[in-house]
This record gives sequence, structure tokens and C-alpha cells, in this order.
Amino acid sequence: MDLNKIVCSCYSVTNGMIKEAVDNGASTLEEVQDATSAGTACGACLDDVKRLVEQFVAERDS
Ligand code: FES
Repeated sequence: MDLNKIVCSCYSVTNGMIKEAVDNGASTLEEVQDATSAGTACGACLDDVKRLVEQFVAERDS
């Protein structure tokens, strides 16, 4: 995965920033949104952000 790829263009949030939020303790979409604002404007990225959160949480907790 390219961690520098932007997943949320509204807030310029990258895959890596989602991972960082999860590594810092966020475990839900809502907690990642509090940390990064990803997906809180137009919402077009929500499915992608949600999938990334689930993937990074699974990796972190494995
Ligand atoms: S692209 Fe993420 S809220 Fe618009």
C-alpha cells in the first residue's frame, strides 16, 4: 500500500495518516475522524476510510 496516497482529498488525509491515528489508539471510524477529520466533509471517501480503519486495526491487533 502507498502510505502517501491521499484517501480524503477534502482534508488531504493520506493512508499513512489513517494508520498513524490507528497506531495512536483510534479503533473506530469515529475515533479516526476525530483524529484526522477524514470523511467529515463531503463524505465521498467514507467507504475507503472505513475499509482502511478496519484493515489497520486488524493489523495492529494481530
Ligand atoms: S474526500 Fe473525504 S470528506 Fe470529502
